[in-house]
Amino acid sequence: MNDIAASSFFEPQVIADPFDYYRTWLPKSPVVQLSDSMFLVLSYEHCAQATGDVETFSNNFQGTLSGAMAEDGDVAAILAQGWPQVDTLLTADPPTHTRFRKLVNLAFSMKRVAAIEEDMRGVVVDLVEQMAARPSCDFVTDFAIPLPVAMIASQIGMTGDDLGKVKRWSDAFVDRLGRMIAKERELECAREVVEFQHFVKARIDERRANPTEDLLSDLVHAAVDGERPLEDAEILSIMQQLMVAGNETTTSALAGGLLQLIDNPAQMAKAVAAADAGNERAIINLVEEVLRTESPTAGMWRMVRQDAELGGIKIPQGAMVQLRYAAANRDPAKYPDPDRFDIERTNARSHLAFGKGIHMCVGNMLSRKEMAVAYTELLTRLTDFAVADGHAPSWPPNMLLRGLTTLPITYRRRP
Ligand code: HEM
Repeated sequence: MNDIAASSFFEPQVIADPFDYYRTWLPKSPVVQLSDSMFLVLSYEHCAQATGDVETFSNNFQGTLSGAMAEDGDVAAILAQGWPQVDTLLTADPPTHTRFRKLVNLAFSMKRVAAIEEDMRGVVVDLVEQMAARPSCDFVTDFAIPLPVAMIASQIGMTGDDLGKVKRWSDAFVDRLGRMIAKERELECAREVVEFQHFVKARIDERRANPTEDLLSDLVHAAVDGERPLEDAEILSIMQQLMVAGNETTTSALAGGLLQLIDNPAQMAKAVAAADAGNERAIINLVEEVLRTESPTAGMWRMVRQDAELGGIKIPQGAMVQLRYAAANRDPAKYPDPDRFDIERTNARSHLAFGKGIHMCVGNMLSRKEMAVAYTELLTRLTDFAVADGHAPSWPPNMLLRGLTTLPITYRRRP
């Protein structure tokens, strides 16, 4: 497959199935130049290095990206009915990032995650039992979407009736981020963004008047480093990121991981044995190996603030770099036989699926816990998982995120 051109990376068929590209280009160069101003970092070592150099590789890429893909007038007119996008977490650098991150860290501490484990298990068991009542389902629609949506919605002050909206809004933000969409969809996404903002703004106002026990209320009443309270646009930005980052990625990990187990019966047998024995360590390692091989956030942008050199390649100031975490996680220098799915891999946890450094995923403990509880309950209650006859799993092209949109499966309840 040496005929894959370096510059073809963002072509839909390559981005939908990028593994040959990684296998071809990683041995040639850890950093690949896609155009005068765009680079791809493929190796584990150099992805890790770039995440540690925030002076050079900035997360403040939103402005550069929207400059390159200027909002068209119709889209801008719709967005003007909402609040401006401001940089808080993912798209902010220190010191702005540091202040917001401190606030959100508190809400996602291990203690908080442990406190919601019981509710989480309740949601998981309900979903598995609904699956068990039928011989088949679409695992994405019936399990992998509702679980993270329910968990994140409750964290951000949304309940029952709002769950469908959360998924719709989250999809719109993801489509805008990946930007491989038609104009009609762009307009629809802009309308979803505005609807989301007005919905959350109403809940912000309610909490200003009457504090409640949720993250949204915490944010409304928090003072950043003892300074001023957060502005509406800042709270909306944080909420939007939690909603988007917490949904699609976890859905993709859950579904991709189940497919890996189905495709690898020997690994499935080991996973079932671990679940039956209540071997939490083994289940946690399964989760890490799923994250390594699936890498739902396949890549993330950085904007280059000063002339740099990475992996022997010169990168000019102003260039955009994509850290390709999915490629780094299959770097043979770090993971021998990297395409093999091995739930006993000893260094699986060192993966970069959550990034590294100051922007490392704030929701990593939450999603790890969701995956561990989900696989335990699925494997102890159901068996004989198979992909439904005639279905060929496929991945829609998206520049940053990678995940199944459907996974029809058959199974039966364990005797
Ligand atoms: C399997 C699931 C998930 C994956 C693979 C994932 C992946 C990532 C990655 C790679 C980053 C770092 C981006 C960078 O390098 O700039 C990140 C950041 C982030 N993630 Fe996640 N994530 C997941 C789940 C979640 C959940 C459940 C939440 C929240 C509820 C969340 C919220 C965030 C936020 C807010 C950031 C930005 C943090 C910052 O810039 O300080 N993620 N995530």
